[in-house]
Amino acid sequence: MADLNIVSICGSLRKASFNGALQRALPSLAPAGMKITPAPAWAGIPIYNHDIQDAGWPAPVTAWADAIRNADGVIIVSPEYNWTIPGGLKNAIDWTSRMKDDPFKGKPVAIQSCAGGLLGGARMQYHLRQCLTSVEAVILIRPEVFVNFSAKKFSEGTLELTDQGTKDMVKLQLEAFEKFVRKQTGKN
Ligand SMILES: Cc1cc2nc3c(=O)[nH]c(=O)nc-3n(C[C@H](O)[C@H](O)[C@H](O)COP(=O)(O)O)c2cc1C
Repeated sequence: MADLNIVSICGSLRKASFNGALQRALPSLAPAGMKITPAPAWAGIPIYNHDIQDAGWPAPVTAWADAIRNADGVIIVSPEYNWTIPGGLKNAIDWTSRMKDDPFKGKPVAIQSCAGGLLGGARMQYHLRQCLTSVEAVILIRPEVFVNFSAKKFSEGTLELTDQGTKDMVKLQLEAFEKFVRKQTGKN
């Protein structure tokens, strides 16, 4: 079977991000035949402004969009900010949505979140599903991955994912996502 080329996106920029740590753990939890690489950083994407777009697409936007467009699927790993999608991530999606060949259109997407609280970022996930539906992405329905009380799931300092239940849950989602992506893309 052909390898699937999956890009991962992290909704947090901070160095000690738990979501970033989960993103880094994904390749070791993926089924054989699924290659997961991080998308280019979105930190340099300006706040959306049609005037900037008219002056020329910013390089960080095109690099981010190209990586998504060229991938067989996308995994978004993001915190919840104030019960919703972090503004920077939403802004990046807003930029790509203005492109004639929107990279998210028809793109298989899986969502994961880590949060300090009990809900594990669930509210963000359902808002992100709504937003990605608007750009016609095709979103894996389940299994869902919510990593709650995230500080307990990663080792202090190295931020290695240590919680077996979380690893099992992520593996299950990645296996389901492989099947989903192969069905959506016809790549077998
Ligand atoms: C601006 C802001 C808003 C936040 N809002 C929420 C929230 O609504 N729900 C929640 O569970 N955690 C919230 N948090 C806490 C984050 O879940 C926690 O900081 C998490 O570790 C951030 O993800 P990261 O470790 O990947 O950077 C918020 C944090 C920030 C900085």
